[in-house]
Amino acid sequence: MPNITFVDADGTRHEVAAKAGVSLMENALTNNIDGIEAECGGSCMCATCHCFIDEEYAAKIPAMESDEDEMLGFAAEERRPGSRLSCQIKVTDDLEGMVVQLPAEQN
Ligand code: FES
Repeated sequence: MPNITFVDADGTRHEVAAKAGVSLMENALTNNIDGIEAECGGSCMCATCHCFIDEEYAAKIPAMESDEDEMLGFAAEERRPGSRLSCQIKVTDDLEGMVVQLPAEQN
């Protein structure tokens, strides 16, 4: 159970004991993290699960597929170098200590 910290746009931090083997998005919803909406339920079709991964951890996560890359173009908040769709990131024990920034808006 890696500890992952979600940081709201206003700087409020929420540390959760994440479940490995399921997506970062599912972990956010399970732990009532408001900044992730996930309207499509994890099908990579809505971009309302947008988040920003710290550079240190980005390298530990498999590179995005083309559908995630395209969908990020529809995210409400402008894309940055660490942008990912949290439904496309599977949590592993390697992500212990990861910090995930949340955008101010998802749609
Ligand atoms: S939940 Fe819709 S794209 Fe991630």
